[in-house]
Amino acid sequence: MPVIAVIGAQWGDEGKGKVVDMLAERARLVIRFSGGDNAGHTVINPIGDFKLHLVPSGIFYPRVTCIIGSGTVINPARLIEEIEKLNQKRVDTSRLVISDRAHLVMPYHLLLDGLEEESRGGKALGTTRRGIGPAFADKVARHGIRAGELLDKKAFLERLRFVLEYKNAILTKIYGASPLSLDEVYKQYCRYGERLAGYIRETTTIIKEAQARGEAILLEGAQGALLDPDYGTYPYTTSSSPLAGGGSLGAGIGPTKIDRVLGVFKAYCTRVGSGPMPTELEDETGNMIRERAYEYGTTTGRPRRCGWFDAVAAGLSNQVNGFTGAAITRLDVLDTLPELKICVAYELDGKTIDYFPSSAAALERCQPVYERMEGWKADTSSIREFDALPPQAKKYINRLEELIPCPIDLVCVGPSREQKIEVRPVW
Ligand code: IMP
Repeated sequence: MPVIAVIGAQWGDEGKGKVVDMLAERARLVIRFSGGDNAGHTVINPIGDFKLHLVPSGIFYPRVTCIIGSGTVINPARLIEEIEKLNQKRVDTSRLVISDRAHLVMPYHLLLDGLEEESRGGKALGTTRRGIGPAFADKVARHGIRAGELLDKKAFLERLRFVLEYKNAILTKIYGASPLSLDEVYKQYCRYGERLAGYIRETTTIIKEAQARGEAILLEGAQGALLDPDYGTYPYTTSSSPLAGGGSLGAGIGPTKIDRVLGVFKAYCTRVGSGPMPTELEDETGNMIRERAYEYGTTTGRPRRCGWFDAVAAGLSNQVNGFTGAAITRLDVLDTLPELKICVAYELDGKTIDYFPSSAAALERCQPVYERMEGWKADTSSIREFDALPPQAKKYINRLEELIPCPIDLVCVGPSREQKIEVRPVW
């Protein structure tokens, strides 16, 4: 059975949680590979409605082991809360595994995320303020503390003492904030460690054994390609790679062992937070999409910016991820529109370009060049076969397939598990 990576192909919130929830039925391992609790994966299935932030969306199947991978950062307080909420709804979390290599979000990361954003003033990135950027920065600066360190209290105290002294200097001397108490942070994190100890494990061996048995594995992305720190709208990005390559690293599976890469796109675009978004609609159509699809951040509740499908951005996403297939979600949101637009190029400083510029400043100046298509003005939410879609909806999907370009495997027409059209088998 293959290894499939499920990747956000736009600015996040494409519906990866729903897609993973659907595909996990056939999987034995689901591995969340990057990001932290900045992510918000909405899953609606026969068990209930869930908003997952760290726990992989495969958790609802009793035979699936769910790993929070080495490439993630974990706020233990948030994770414990998430586990408890799942348990209250009778979801068994005994098959959850936390990679001992995953980094921890510490109290100073949360403080620094807020202080750094405030110091950016009008240039704030609009982060989720979950401490994600500072935690990943520490990982690379080698000041990070990993989940496995919670299991050795003595060594943890020494590491924390060293790191906290440095962090307190930044908090007090640069930001004029109060220092954090070593004793308090230590005791609090020891409590988290005790609570999570049963979940924290070395994960490469679990994955190796699953591969040896030929079991189906899903890599669950967080955020989206256009938030990637290298290829996204830097600096308006997140801090870990949401790309398929990030999946290989963050899960601990070599790139040659990933068989398929499924790019998840919304049928239109959304973005939450600051930064360029060439097809953003600041009009009635944008508002209609936001309200019809309830486009508000799962993690922060912020209204999402909505716009037309951007095929230029999709082309970059396809290039850097190497999609073998795509899922188009929320097609039903467009059901009432008389006309649709797809951005096929940009006008930049008087020139027409067909690539996604690397500079955020240039992207801000890009004007979308649109192709217009007639809308289908019919309810697609109960359709389960591609051929049963209205002709204009099929035309729209086929056009996206040509423009990305990538075969479309799956079309979602509503939030629940069964509201899907399988165009080609994904597994
Ligand atoms: P951070 O990841 O919290 O540092 O935020 C950096 C940028 O990524 C901000 O624009 C956030 O709104 C955005 N972002 C982070 N996580 C998500 C997500 O799961 N969905 C959509 N946007 C996200």
